[in-house]
Amino acid sequence: METENQKNEFLHDTLKGLSSKPKYLSSKYFYDERGSKIFQDIMRMPEYYLTDCELEIFKTQQQKILNDFTNGPAGFDVLELGAGDGMKTKVLLKHFVNQNANFTYSPVDISGTVISQLIKDLKNEIPHLQVEGLKGDYFKMISSFKDKVSKRKIILFLGSNIGNFSLEDSVGFLIKLRKSMNKNDLLFIGFDLKKENSLILDAYNDAGGHTAAFNLNLLYRINTELDSNFDLDNFYHEEVYDADSGKAESFLISKVDQKVTIKKLNKTFSFAQGEKIFTEMSQKFDIRMVEELAEKSGFKIVRNYLDKRQYFMNSLWRLKL
Ligand SMILES: C[S@@+](CC[C@H](N)C(=O)[O-])C[C@H]1O[C@@H](n2cnc3c(N)ncnc32)[C@H](O)[C@@H]1O
Repeated sequence: METENQKNEFLHDTLKGLSSKPKYLSSKYFYDERGSKIFQDIMRMPEYYLTDCELEIFKTQQQKILNDFTNGPAGFDVLELGAGDGMKTKVLLKHFVNQNANFTYSPVDISGTVISQLIKDLKNEIPHLQVEGLKGDYFKMISSFKDKVSKRKIILFLGSNIGNFSLEDSVGFLIKLRKSMNKNDLLFIGFDLKKENSLILDAYNDAGGHTAAFNLNLLYRINTELDSNFDLDNFYHEEVYDADSGKAESFLISKVDQKVTIKKLNKTFSFAQGEKIFTEMSQKFDIRMVEELAEKSGFKIVRNYLDKRQYFMNSLWRLKL
């Protein structure tokens, strides 16, 4: 269930985004119950190489990862930001439990449905795991992480979620994360690497239409939650990739001149034919960009783990002291 505050925030952010020039909607609102289900389909489609690559890294390098996380007998706390269905993380968690590692797992997710399903699954699949799920917006929860001091804290930010920020905003976010960390803590981030344009474009605009449905779900969500009359057939999904900057960007484009009324805002918005609503950034990186990001935000790279095709990289960071 959404709180009154969350509803007001959605209302406020929608007003701000659709009143801007150019228009935008925040990708944070993709994940209502319907959106989370569509995203699970996306993760399982053959074009979405990101899941397979990160899964391969975890399956083949789980012991190295455990060795790097381990902090003597004191153990560690794993905190995962935007955990989703935990499909890949479970591979690591199972291995850690089988190796009798002394650790706890705290998944954080903005979606209540996602977090309760994950906890239920973990109880069934890894009964010996110590788990405490946290429902909420990680932007708001980060500062409270500083108080978790009894064990080494390891913050996971997987699936190249970091790519949803612009490079500038990533630095701001990482500095905020760094301030929530103590000197022995670690940050483990998934980065999608630059690769052939067509592979990237297919992952974000698949022939089966899952990614289009995911993007259009934003308008469906505004219709149901904010009482509006978007005609989904009057918009289409577009993905654009620029290989130099590594920016992959998603848009919803108006097929016709049209007006849409959002009753809860008491406001009508005009869309010209061809007008774009920016909905999501999926930044792609090379290793130099990752090194620069770590440097700018006050971290040192401990180790990089790559899949065999070098499509994806998990990078383990410690504080630069
Ligand atoms: C792209 S999915 C990735 C899930 C998982 N990390 C993975 O790699 O498979 C993003 C997840 O983050 C959650 N999420 C998005 N924005 C969030 C926020 N601001 N605070 C907490 N969770 C968020 C969504 O509900 C969703 O489950």
